[in-house]
Amino acid sequence: MKLLHIDSSINGPVSASRAVSAAIAERLQAENPGIEAAYHDLAAQPLPHLTLDVLGDPAANAHLQAFLAADIVVIGAGFYNFSIPSQLKAWLDRILIGGQTFSYGPEGPKGLAGGKRVIVALTRGGLYGEGSPAASLEHGETYLKAVFGFIGVTPEFVVAEGLAMGDEARVAGMAAALDAARSLSGAALAA
Ligand SMILES: Cc1cc2nc3c(=O)[nH]c(=O)nc-3n(C[C@H](O)[C@H](O)[C@H](O)COP(=O)(O)O)c2cc1C
Repeated sequence: MKLLHIDSSINGPVSASRAVSAAIAERLQAENPGIEAAYHDLAAQPLPHLTLDVLGDPAANAHLQAFLAADIVVIGAGFYNFSIPSQLKAWLDRILIGGQTFSYGPEGPKGLAGGKRVIVALTRGGLYGEGSPAASLEHGETYLKAVFGFIGVTPEFVVAEGLAMGDEARVAGMAAALDAARSLSGAALAA
């Protein structure tokens, strides 16, 4: 079984999403002792913007190949300017490749990446839950749900929010997310 772990926060060692994604990866490794794990730090080794040659040669797209080979993918993402870090968008641009992770036909789009488990650690400064005044500004979780849904995957989320709303809120938000990460199911999905 293969685990692919990706981080995209620019906040280095003090990053909230990195702490949560690490707890998720640790949990999955503890639950699956033989799992083969790979890690990519998209802030330390950023990908350039998408170019046409990437679309033309899927075999040379190492990020796509690593994603296709993974059974479980863990993604750490801070919530930046109401969306995901651009580092993560550049990675997604290498994963959403026609004929590889989705296809179009008479029935419309079809996801080809089903059977994979994707777990996102998403951390937000404010509050964006259902019914909150800023809920309509949440374009991180909603975007990732749409993108992964398009390729046939229903992503799971471990969210910490309210992290910029004072020490108490930050401590409580992180504690709840770390608890959720440590109690996640370790199972892979059946292909
Ligand atoms: C560049 C930048 C933009 C941000 N934009 C928002 C935002 O639009 N809404 C929000 O609630 N928090 C925002 N924040 C706060 C982050 O969502 C919060 O600090 C989160 O925990 C960052 O995760 P990280 O530490 O893993 O990068 C922003 C933080 C940064 C660094």
